[in-house]
Amino acid sequence: MSQKTATEGAVHSDRFPSHFLWGASTSAYQIEGATRVDGRGESIWDRFAATPGKVYQGDTGDVALEHYYRFQEDIALMKKLHFNAYCFSIAWPRIIPEGTGTVNEKGLDFYDRLVDELLAQGITPLVKLYHWDLPYALQERGGWLRRETAQAFADYAEIVARRLRDRVNWWITFNEPWCIAYLGHGVGVHAPGLANKQDALNAGHHVLLAHGLVLPRLRALLQPGAKIGFTVDPYPVYAMDESDEARQQAERLDRFRNRWFLDPLFRGCYPDGLFEDLGCVAPDIQPDDMARIAAPLDFLGVNYYSRWRTSRESNALEALPVPEDAPRTVMGWEIYPQGLLEALRQVQQDYAPPAIVITENGAAFNDIWDGGDLVHDPERVEYMRSHLASIEAAVAEGIPVQGHFAWSLMDNYEWAEGYSKRFGLVYVDYPSQKRIIKQSGLWYANYIEAQQKSA
Ligand code: NOJ
Repeated sequence: MSQKTATEGAVHSDRFPSHFLWGASTSAYQIEGATRVDGRGESIWDRFAATPGKVYQGDTGDVALEHYYRFQEDIALMKKLHFNAYCFSIAWPRIIPEGTGTVNEKGLDFYDRLVDELLAQGITPLVKLYHWDLPYALQERGGWLRRETAQAFADYAEIVARRLRDRVNWWITFNEPWCIAYLGHGVGVHAPGLANKQDALNAGHHVLLAHGLVLPRLRALLQPGAKIGFTVDPYPVYAMDESDEARQQAERLDRFRNRWFLDPLFRGCYPDGLFEDLGCVAPDIQPDDMARIAAPLDFLGVNYYSRWRTSRESNALEALPVPEDAPRTVMGWEIYPQGLLEALRQVQQDYAPPAIVITENGAAFNDIWDGGDLVHDPERVEYMRSHLASIEAAVAEGIPVQGHFAWSLMDNYEWAEGYSKRFGLVYVDYPSQKRIIKQSGLWYANYIEAQQKSA
């Protein structure tokens, strides 16, 4: 398909303000590779991926996209796609290989070079301090089950902030705490692979606490005007029948999937009923914890992928399976763009964050490269078009969305799915490490350009 055809059907409107952030998100373990280079320590994902049976085909992040070496080439791709911003994470084990103690200058140097190159290309960096790769040495001491890990995080965050504060103004402390807590500690499908609901609740509390401890320290260090946020991944819950049981079940799922973290961050308390639903007792909440956790944020990061369905028949803490005839991605997730508008409305109505940034939105499909210089992915174009339409509608309603980041820039390591699921705007041929822009990448570039012209 020609470039012209690839961009047909773009929705052009002038709804987005000129300072709107446009780009894609990535995370360190999913793209960097070079896991044993320049003093990087081991992370819980290195260990988990190397454990037989945990990840599809035993795939690891050892090589990944070699972004550690190819970051200039990757930033050139961002430029080609008209990004004005890029959201990436810092690997804690590169900065403090043992989690606490000695700082690895070479790790800091890498992010220095990355940030400098982004700025040289006119791309605003958004730094995520934690996207799931805890230093393994801390896991050996209990990881997120221990309160001390929150303190270690705050110390690490301060070191990164001291190095980058003169050039970085957008900071995200954590990405998707539900996945860290529940997938990692409640059911064990992610590192560190624990499967105990009480552990999930305790780990989640220490993640929130870590955020609360780091906030005042970042505020004291960063330049005036710097923005600090926290990223969640809301799944709006829909009752599929009108019974009272279905409505109650939807409320239960909503507090489990969404309010578990949003209520503490914005209201300073856990939602009533959460601990009972999980069959747990309260985590170890100490006197100042909740006030620290609920200190004001500058923005909320929202990652959106799909919705959850429930009905009067469901009773467990699980969504109903996606019906056979519903549109879905190859992850099996229902494609439901209206859910993004619904999630934004709910967040706005219940928590009113001063600003919202869509820090991830995207889909995996079975993309095929035929050796040419464009990969055809019409389903992803449609996914993006429909979800951006929801964001346009949200902005038109006055919801303060300030940015949109596609997940992801390139195909990458999809955690327990290894390299089998492709989410990129750019295709990666893993054996040769060749990057090939997809039709969706061109479509998005064209969309961004149209917005910027009309802003
Ligand atoms: C959310 C996570 O932040 C990211 O790491 C993951 O790859 C995408 N969703 C897709 O599952």
